[in-house]
Amino acid sequence: MPNPTHIQGVSIAALADEFGTPLYIYDGEKITQQIKTLQEAFGGVPLKIKYATKALSNINILKLIRKAGAGVDAVSIEEVRLGLMAGHQTDEIMYTPSGVGFEEIREAVNLGIMINLDSLPLMEEFGEVYGGSIPACIRINPHIMAGGNLKISTGHKESKFGISIEQLPQILHTVAKYKLNIVGLHIHTGSDILDAEVFLKGGNVLFEAAIQFPELKFLDFGGGFKVAYKPNDIATDIVEVGSKVSVAFQDFCKRYGKQLELWLEPGKFLVSEAGYLLVKANVVKESPSVTFVGVNSGLNHLIRPMMYDAYHGVYNLSNPDGKKAKYNVVGYICETDTIASHRELTEVRAGDLLVIKNAGAYGYSMSSNYNSRMRPAEVLVLDGKAFQIRKRENFEDLIRNQEIIDF
Ligand code: LLP
Repeated sequence: MPNPTHIQGVSIAALADEFGTPLYIYDGEKITQQIKTLQEAFGGVPLKIKYATKALSNINILKLIRKAGAGVDAVSIEEVRLGLMAGHQTDEIMYTPSGVGFEEIREAVNLGIMINLDSLPLMEEFGEVYGGSIPACIRINPHIMAGGNLKISTGHKESKFGISIEQLPQILHTVAKYKLNIVGLHIHTGSDILDAEVFLKGGNVLFEAAIQFPELKFLDFGGGFKVAYKPNDIATDIVEVGSKVSVAFQDFCKRYGKQLELWLEPGKFLVSEAGYLLVKANVVKESPSVTFVGVNSGLNHLIRPMMYDAYHGVYNLSNPDGKKAKYNVVGYICETDTIASHRELTEVRAGDLLVIKNAGAYGYSMSSNYNSRMRPAEVLVLDGKAFQIRKRENFEDLIRNQEIIDF
């Protein structure tokens, strides 16, 4: 992974001058390219990509994704609305809730959006209200431990997500009871999954369940492809996954007696590497054991390092040829918000611009106003031009919904 000074010919330093820091920057070309790569890797099957909107939910990103031929996986009614605002057709959006209230389900159905039913009680209620009149999908928990760490493993036995594969008899009973129109089955086992075998294993669970559902149109394998965060990280070999899963899938379709669609829900794979968080060094502070670089950002803008011990590459844009030294890059939040620990960087001076890599996925979308700080602006580089796609928040934004009462 190179340390770019330019994105599609646009100077990152010039973006700092124009839009200020901290700043999220997205390379639109990279996102489009990732979609193409995925489409090619799964070229042997009828593929539908449903982008995991939660990774990066700016409406312009959703528009870009639509133009590149992918749809949307939404995990809240708000994400459904964002998808619609970005121009996705209702049949290009799936709503995958996790234990939400039925009023949200009703709202999504009224909008014409397919629901991924994630619990037996929801199947019951859905059946009571709609019977078999509305096509739906079922999210199965396949009991597969996968993913980079337990916090992002979503398909193991003790995970809250989906309906346990061991409860297949109850699922089938509920489907029969309400004559539910089940057109898809879904799994998502986790995030940061390296191994093609995990997707094959998940596929086998889907196939065994699918045989019991005669009216299926698709099987959804979820997302979770690993991208490279560290310099020597190996990413999921998408070509290998694509070819192995496609072969298994086509074999199954023969057994099933009908050509189904294969759905995928990548988040990180599409947007992680396309995103950069540009920050400024406020202070370089030497202590007896560590040299700290304090930047004008922190866990309020990028929480992944603190929440998952995630590694994000960092480089000094302002002094690429400086002498190398080790630094702890830390945020300005009143918490221990270490962005990079004992990291070798070229010499950092106060005022230098640092770039944090892999900030596209779960960066801005997991940001907050903690410490009463404002969120950064977002810029999308498209066709060699930079567009601000979200303004930097200001103090008025911060207090907008507070009501100051007299007492
Ligand atoms: N589909 C479903 C149902 C999901 O829950 C997720 C992620 C995805 C697809 C996309 O997974 P991806 O391709 O991005 O790995 N915030 C964590 C990741 C949590 C992911 C939650 N679900 C992180 O920053 O590592």
